[in-house]
Amino acid sequence: MIKVGVVGYGTIGKRVVDASIDSGFNVAIAVRRYTPKLDIAIEKKYPLYSMTGDIGIDVCGDFDDFIKDCDAIVDCTSKNVPVENFPRYKNVKVILEGGEKHSLTNFSFSSLGNYEEGVNKAKARVVSCNTTSLVRTLSPLKNYIGNVFVTLIRRSVDPWDIKGGPINAIVPVLKVPSHHGPDLNTVLPDINIQTMAVKVPTTLAHLHIVRAKLKTEMKKEDVRDIFENTPRIKVLSGYKSTADVIEHFRDLGRKRCDMQEAVIFEESINVESGKAYWIHVVHQESIVVPENIDCIKAMFGEKDKWKAIYETDKTLGIEKKRECYK
Ligand SMILES: NC(=O)c1ccc[n+]([C@@H]2O[C@H](COP(=O)([O-])OP(=O)(O)OC[C@H]3O[C@@H](n4cnc5c(N)ncnc54)[C@H](OP(=O)(O)O)[C@@H]3O)[C@@H](O)[C@H]2O)c1
Repeated sequence: MIKVGVVGYGTIGKRVVDASIDSGFNVAIAVRRYTPKLDIAIEKKYPLYSMTGDIGIDVCGDFDDFIKDCDAIVDCTSKNVPVENFPRYKNVKVILEGGEKHSLTNFSFSSLGNYEEGVNKAKARVVSCNTTSLVRTLSPLKNYIGNVFVTLIRRSVDPWDIKGGPINAIVPVLKVPSHHGPDLNTVLPDINIQTMAVKVPTTLAHLHIVRAKLKTEMKKEDVRDIFENTPRIKVLSGYKSTADVIEHFRDLGRKRCDMQEAVIFEESINVESGKAYWIHVVHQESIVVPENIDCIKAMFGEKDKWKAIYETDKTLGIEKKRECYK
């Protein structure tokens, strides 16, 4: 059984741990210190390792032991920390998250965009939440679209985070276009995309406003049907805000209220003057979790992209009809 070692037990780390266990992997967790966030992991008796010597709790070993004991490491520490850990990851498969630069692994992964390229890879970076949602929505349209323009309206911090907020401002990314377009191109190099971004005082979700020039004549119903039949995209009708959408996922009783799908407001889908338009919502805390699980499967030799994705979705309770996976 594959042993997945997760470094860091924050927003992404704790979700990757749970999804790995649900997917039938063994897990281990490496942390730099004890914080009350770890109490659940201690209660569940997950094997813990210390990155920094004595941290006042029982651990199975140090960071070197952890690296030796694991078949794959998913480094979910804060942006720029994995760069320091990276040289120590020898003889083990490694996955980094979207905060890291593409150049560190020279391979960025996102299931719908380039699963096949991940097969048997030793190192990969699973792209960020924003890029994941763009890969998911643009991949099924890639044969029909030309130039794409996206405005990203980004949440300021995650809901639990009191360090980055509160803010009372709209903060534009002054580098135009923003880095999100080039990041998408690390997975889908053939899409001509420009992005601009702002940060706003909300914690629930990001929202993207997308305009894609069409190369083929399409009706808005065609675009909607493509989204309806694509895994990990949910088209919701009658919802008017990110708050509404997140509340829907709370009502569904999802674990941690997670929304691992990219959610498209159905009423926003339109085609006019040869361009397709839509608005989608991105739950930054959870959207990348299925892609992390797929990435592990690919790196350990699962060649069948759609089987891997379907099984991940089934495990996570987000599967669509089997015929959507092709
Ligand atoms: N949250 C999102 O919106 C989101 C979405 C997609 C991708 N990502 C990416 O996922 C990665 C993790 O982000 P996150 O949101 O999960 O961060 P997070 O919730 O802040 O968790 C970060 C984890 O890293 C640990 N850590 C921080 N500095 C460390 C150090 N010097 N040595 C060892 N451990 C350290 C923290 O430990 P302590 O608890 O001890 O501080 C914590 O467990 C980043 O690359 C991020 O860009 C984040």
